[in-house]
Amino acid sequence: MQEIKFYSGENIPLEQHKVRIVQKLNLVPIERRLEALHEGGFNTFRLSTNDVFLDMLTDSGTNAMSDNQLAAMMQADDAYAGSQSFVRLQQAVTDVLGKKYLLPVHQGRAAENIISIAYVKKGNVVPMNYHFTTAMAHITDKGGQIAELLYDEAYIINSDHPFKGNMNIEKLEEVIKYHGPKNIPFIRMEASTNLIGGQPFSIQNLRDVRSLCDKYNIRLVLDGSLLGENAYLVKQREEEFKDADMKTIIHTMTGLADLCYFSARKLSSSRGGGICTDSLEVFRELEAFIPLYEGFLTYGGISIREVESMAVGLYETLDETMISQSPTFIKYLVDGLDSKGIPVIKPAGVLGAHVDAMQVCDHIPQSQYPAGALAAALFLISGVRGMERGSISNQRDEYGNETYSDMELLRLAVPRRVFTLSQIKYVEDRMHWLYDNRHLIGGLKFVYEPPVLRFFMGGLEPVNDWPQKLMAKFKEDFGDSL
Ligand code: F0G
Repeated sequence: MQEIKFYSGENIPLEQHKVRIVQKLNLVPIERRLEALHEGGFNTFRLSTNDVFLDMLTDSGTNAMSDNQLAAMMQADDAYAGSQSFVRLQQAVTDVLGKKYLLPVHQGRAAENIISIAYVKKGNVVPMNYHFTTAMAHITDKGGQIAELLYDEAYIINSDHPFKGNMNIEKLEEVIKYHGPKNIPFIRMEASTNLIGGQPFSIQNLRDVRSLCDKYNIRLVLDGSLLGENAYLVKQREEEFKDADMKTIIHTMTGLADLCYFSARKLSSSRGGGICTDSLEVFRELEAFIPLYEGFLTYGGISIREVESMAVGLYETLDETMISQSPTFIKYLVDGLDSKGIPVIKPAGVLGAHVDAMQVCDHIPQSQYPAGALAAALFLISGVRGMERGSISNQRDEYGNETYSDMELLRLAVPRRVFTLSQIKYVEDRMHWLYDNRHLIGGLKFVYEPPVLRFFMGGLEPVNDWPQKLMAKFKEDFGDSL
């Protein structure tokens, strides 16, 4: 993609779209934000958007749709079976993802459920570069275990390694030999590895994983939810692909996998999801579960309007001016935070900026959830809603013990084409103030802990009156400002 240079020499990501529909935002006073935190159990998932100024919780289902996506929704061919909208979607999957068969599902985790039901048996092990919360929950729910096999460099926060999402090939072979290929239903590679900061893998690494799959006759499953951005970063960072177009890069990646599943809430900026494959055998193994859990095979629990917007959104993934928008804004935010000395995952990845709460809140023990505390504190002082991606997002082990996560991150998601640059600058500014006042942030404790995926609806409270003290300091420094 052609870079647009500024005369001033500044490196500013320039929007390649114009804003035609807008939605009003509210920035409520800090006193209300504190009340909202108490009402929502200091869990940003439980905040109401009435109280949220910039919603950086996730990029899932929150991306801006294009005029063409919205227009396509009007031609939805609503039918229980045989919808022409599905024909268009299937064509888009073939053109963009290079796969012949498509099984539609209502969102990404539904694909994970079906793949796990079909393939994971009690005692099985699923090696992967890194887990995603719902992928792991579905595998363990079926009696399986996961093995996370990243290289050590993936855990280094301040790094310039271009592909921290790479699978450790030596360890992968050890794990296959140790458990035996028969105990490994599939190997899972996650594009733009979410929980370590949206970090990509290289195509060379995927090829190496494929070689081991061939050697031991094991399926390769690609989680393509963040495939477009991984492909964009391959183009930026992998010499072999620097002149390749997005379609070639995406086809190269999906071509190495036996099946690829995705959340269309991310890939294609719409809703729903899918499982696609070139293998009739794989298709047949999964097919029967779609009507059982999702819906008929030509809608899969997705509204037909969304089927249309998914088809158009998939084609738009091939447009570099579109797919680069979120990663370049993220890089701008990461560079800004980094220049203020705030520890943040580097190199900038996809999905969002990831602040290292382990360092920012090094006075808070992991048992008091530093990343959850930082997320609550940032919301309090700014109305910016991020997401905890640390120990609260982990699940307890089979004996009920806490398992502390490798990283304690506050994720500030940058959904595609939603925020303006001044909003990104506001986030940087408030995060800077919070960093300078970080000693005022305190820990959290659970008061309500659901047994599965506890981070979604769990309730916490501060260990002492630190939120009041933080609020008092904010008012001292900012006066009447919201
Ligand atoms: N795989 C990856 C890599 C994801 O990031 C997600 C969702 C899923 C699967 C599940 O998809 O939400 O449609 O069921 N990630 C969202 C997030 C929730 O905020 O990171 P889903």
